[in-house]
Amino acid sequence: MMSVEEDPGSAPLFALHISLGLTAAFLIALRLAWRFGNPPRSTETGPRWQTRAARLTHWLLYLLLVLMPLTGFLGASFGGDGVDFFGMALPQWSARNDSLKEQLFGVHSFVAWLLVAVVSLHVLGALKHLLLDRDGVFWRMWPVSRSRQGR
Ligand code: HEM
Ligand code: HEM
Repeated sequence: MMSVEEDPGSAPLFALHISLGLTAAFLIALRLAWRFGNPPRSTETGPRWQTRAARLTHWLLYLLLVLMPLTGFLGASFGGDGVDFFGMALPQWSARNDSLKEQLFGVHSFVAWLLVAVVSLHVLGALKHLLLDRDGVFWRMWPVSRSRQGR
């Protein structure tokens, strides 16, 4: 993907990336915890394989959303330079291990691309509901309730 590591002045950008990434991890954990008690209403509006594909895609999205910050955090920890959260140093729990660090960032980068692909598929699916099926599923992501919602 992008390669700014060697650029002079990139350190604050990486620090920001790490702080925002950790914030995302916290929000993702909250969302997942909430999700187990609050499953969405069934979207079984089309053929069975489409319902299954949607369910699989959603869980794949969650898995990637967990792996993304997890591999980043582990990679940065094994990098040995410490991990800061908005300037506050988190406890250093691991010894430096450069080969593990490289492997973890390899996965971090791969997961990022996979996320781009799966999110694209997911948005295409949502647009199919909006434009072709017109079944109200798309509007279930809209914060205000709509008369067109299929609830
Ligand atoms: C949802 C959260 C995150 C997303 C979407 C994300 C995304 C990315 C992307 C797209 C890259 C560039 C990969 C490449 O060079 O091919 C990257 C690199 C990096 N990320 Fe993250 N990241 C996240 C969370 C984190 C966290 C929590 C940390 C550390 C605590 C972290 C640390 C890093 C570091 C150090 C690099 C540079 C890796 C290298 O040396 O190649 N990231 N991240
Ligand atoms: C234009 C952008 C997007 C649209 C229109 C959209 C639309 C939707 C719709 C209509 C649903 C079904 C809601 C329901 O079942 O009630 C959904 C679920 C979901 N979306 Fe998106 N989405 C978008 C972007 C994203 C992105 C960027 C992510 C994550 C990276 C994401 C992750 C998810 C997940 C994990 C679910 C499953 C929710 C659950 O079952 O708990 N979406 N989305």
